[in-house]
Amino acid sequence: MTKSSLIKSFLILFTIITFSACTAEKKKRVLNFAKTDLAAEHLIPKPLKIIPTHGGFALDEFTAIYTSENAAGFEEVGKFLAQKIKAKTDLDVQVNVDEIPNLETVIYINQADSTDLKGPEAYQLYITQDSVILNSNTAAGAFRGIQTIRQLIPVTSNNTLAANKIWTIPTGKIIDNPQFEYRGAMLDVARHFFSVEDVKKFLDLLAYYKYNTLHLHLTDDQGWRIEIKSWPLLTEVGGSTEVGGEAGGFYTQEEYKDIIAYAAERHIVIVPEVDMPGHTNAASVSYPILNGNGKTPRLYEGTQVGKSTFATRKDTVYAFIDDVVREIAAITPGPYFHIGGDESHVTQKNDYIYFVERVEKIVQKYDKRMIGWDEIGQADIDSSSISHFWSSKKNALDAVDKGMKVIMSPAKKAYLDMQYDTLSKHGLHWAAYIPTDTAYNWSPETYEGIPIKNILGVEAPLWSETISNIEELEYLAFPRAIGYSELSWSTQENRDWENFKVRLANQAPFLDRMNVKYYPSPLIDWKKSKYSYKEIEKD
Ligand code: ACM
Repeated sequence: MTKSSLIKSFLILFTIITFSACTAEKKKRVLNFAKTDLAAEHLIPKPLKIIPTHGGFALDEFTAIYTSENAAGFEEVGKFLAQKIKAKTDLDVQVNVDEIPNLETVIYINQADSTDLKGPEAYQLYITQDSVILNSNTAAGAFRGIQTIRQLIPVTSNNTLAANKIWTIPTGKIIDNPQFEYRGAMLDVARHFFSVEDVKKFLDLLAYYKYNTLHLHLTDDQGWRIEIKSWPLLTEVGGSTEVGGEAGGFYTQEEYKDIIAYAAERHIVIVPEVDMPGHTNAASVSYPILNGNGKTPRLYEGTQVGKSTFATRKDTVYAFIDDVVREIAAITPGPYFHIGGDESHVTQKNDYIYFVERVEKIVQKYDKRMIGWDEIGQADIDSSSISHFWSSKKNALDAVDKGMKVIMSPAKKAYLDMQYDTLSKHGLHWAAYIPTDTAYNWSPETYEGIPIKNILGVEAPLWSETISNIEELEYLAFPRAIGYSELSWSTQENRDWENFKVRLANQAPFLDRMNVKYYPSPLIDWKKSKYSYKEIEKD
């Protein structure tokens, strides 16, 4: 904290104390109305430590937000919280306004360099009767912290004991820090295209549960979804259809930048994936020179995998990849570039290895860290590259032997496109049926013996062969994505299905407010849902 911001913090606290003293009678009434329990709140993901003090902080029309003003991004975090408070309560909470008459309670979002804050996304929340003080090293940490505040604001106000409407936040202390640095979901926009608006809604939901990464599977046999200015036919031809023969679509670079910016406001990083050397039919239809499977490429609207490959020994292919990586890297601020690399069944093994090693150099040339599905572990690649474990324990452990980090997305546990059960309306089951409890009841920390020190994090991929709109996306992603947020954020000791189940049931009002057509799993006693399990089965 700078000296001037320190002085400002004291002034604000002094102001609060002074105002609080003047309005002691009103506060007493607020405090008397209920004994709270911060530890019993339905927070997801579960914070590291919660210490309740059983009082109440009154969020009302006399509340203001102050943030560190010299620390990058903190004021934006304060404004984001104000917007969400407005949406939930209709209160107009001011941010960093100097003169506020009748100011009574303050939410202070503070950049702090305390050594108690264990990482960039760690935060601490001190909630007293008069103030909520949120401390974190970075704006990203502050952003995670305000999700906790959002979740603590009750759905309804209590207006029986006060003239003004008051939303009571339980007092106490929360000390929080994520278990893993990479907490992601993936959306396949190649098999079916999803609009910018759909992606934004998904980002809003992920942000609420403290995700920090969205991986976009941008290309596959059935479609190429990102404009590449130096190879325009990729989208003109390769983006023109999708599974089932619908019109497909693609993001212009401007639209992609819009997604990146929206994600960045939520402190979410976008990981772009260009899947290769297999899963490349759409690219080869657009530019047949890329093709290496010996057949004339045609637009493909089916769902089989493993038939396409790039011509891995042609320099033109690498000139093409250089252009693609350069253009995408230039508009992707995040540190990663995902090269796919899965299911290249018609690429010779030695050609595959040659390809991955050569593409890794291109990705590094554009200052990105390569991620690839676990098959890339067969190649001789750098320890800074990342193995994305989906299927083969052996491949993942080979990557570990090279000192690489691993992202945990085992299909049997973490694939959002697997059906919940035999009655599921959408999804596949080639890996498993994954009911809501199975999705939650596994430990990335110990799964298949991948050492925890090599685990970068957890990602829940949503493949889109069977879904083509936001409602279908929501049906497969929710509620399971909520459980995965806890698997990647909370420690193993803090995870317990019976306890989670109750907290999950209480997400229904939020999901309903967000108009999320989640799968109302019969394992959960949903708090208050707009529709019942039976209704959903009918439509
Ligand atoms: C994959 O599911 N083919 C990564």
